[in-house]
Amino acid sequence: MTTNNTAGDVKDMSLAREGVNRIQWAEREMGVLRLVRERFEQEKPLAGYKYSLCLHVTTETANLAITLKAGGADLVLCASNPLSTQDDVAAALVSEYGIPTYSIKGEDNETYYRHINAALDHAPHYTMDDGADLVSSLHTQRADLLSNVLGGTEETTTGVIRLTAMANDGKLAYPIIAVNEAETKHFFDNRYGTGQSTLDGITRATNILWAGRKVVVGGYGWCGRGVASRARGMGAHVIVTEVNPIRALEAVMDGFTVMPSAEAAAEGEVFITVTGGYHTISGDHIAVMKDGAILSNSGHFNVEIDIPALEGMSVGHRGVRDFVEEYTLKDGRHIYLLGEGRLINLAAAEGHPSAVMDMSFANQALSAEYLVKNQDSLGKGVHVVPRETDQEVGRLKLESMGINIDSLSAEQQHYQDSWDQGT
Ligand code: ADE
Repeated sequence: MTTNNTAGDVKDMSLAREGVNRIQWAEREMGVLRLVRERFEQEKPLAGYKYSLCLHVTTETANLAITLKAGGADLVLCASNPLSTQDDVAAALVSEYGIPTYSIKGEDNETYYRHINAALDHAPHYTMDDGADLVSSLHTQRADLLSNVLGGTEETTTGVIRLTAMANDGKLAYPIIAVNEAETKHFFDNRYGTGQSTLDGITRATNILWAGRKVVVGGYGWCGRGVASRARGMGAHVIVTEVNPIRALEAVMDGFTVMPSAEAAAEGEVFITVTGGYHTISGDHIAVMKDGAILSNSGHFNVEIDIPALEGMSVGHRGVRDFVEEYTLKDGRHIYLLGEGRLINLAAAEGHPSAVMDMSFANQALSAEYLVKNQDSLGKGVHVVPRETDQEVGRLKLESMGINIDSLSAEQQHYQDSWDQGT
């Protein structure tokens, strides 16, 4: 059953109760966001403003949306990926929390963009995006709405790269805070979140044993570091491919085998792309892969694996398990593509665990407040999360975990601030 009304477009309203239970379960792990929500309930810093959110519709996002609403925001939500929606959460947001939500897991491209447009119909003062599809649609197809927009935030690496390109082209029409650049975001969410949830997604989809498996990780950014370290932790032999010499060196000194993709293609049994780039796995790579190779992606877009090339090399394909498509190549080999090449951690699992999304989304909520407070002074372009916000999120996270740390004495602080004391 599809419900399509003014309060959103979700798969099945009868899933709402399950959604509420899971949203509440996630909330237990999101202590920093809870503190923000409690303050927002009192102070209502977002009152009077309309927000269009384009995020993965998960239990963690639900807690962010509830926090923004508690702060007075008038908001609507749509999916930032066709395959990442948790349908029970979407139903709960509409029916139990009064947050119009447009997202259905497995929606086609046309529906995906219809939902983005429905979110834009809200005529937002602020946007909150993950991957920049909302902002890109706003600038290219709905530019009439731009005069109303005061600011925005962006969640992920890929989105920040796209927005920076827009700003460099002089096309970005308003200030956007790059939440991804906060240390309390990418050090934790990208590394530990993507690391754990990617292995989780591949495990849920395939039930493979990792121990002894040859795993090729494409890209050694924060996500790649996390995926490689978690795969090693499960006993896999991990090969890293990179184009950046410093990252490649870091991977070598972290103890991984590093080699060109063309060589890794023939060695690997499981491939995981996290470069954020285009055709990290190409048709030439697939041509030399072992029979039974598993291909997966945890980067934002489904372009890291050249799926059209895989299709062109195949005589047919069929689904063999949920999120596992078996391609039969002309020479009889089988290649397995997971989750249509979309982010496997959100397609086949539940995305990053709540405890890391806590920090990412506390940064989002505090950045939303910062934008309102500073809307007259922030110019068009991509801005960083203020250092104090980042530090405060880290401090509160430690506090919520019951961990105390030291602080500098006056004497130590003086030493830090001086230049005249040497040997
Ligand atoms: N991105 C990665 N994991 C996520 C999650 N659990 N919720 C929202 N966005 C995410």
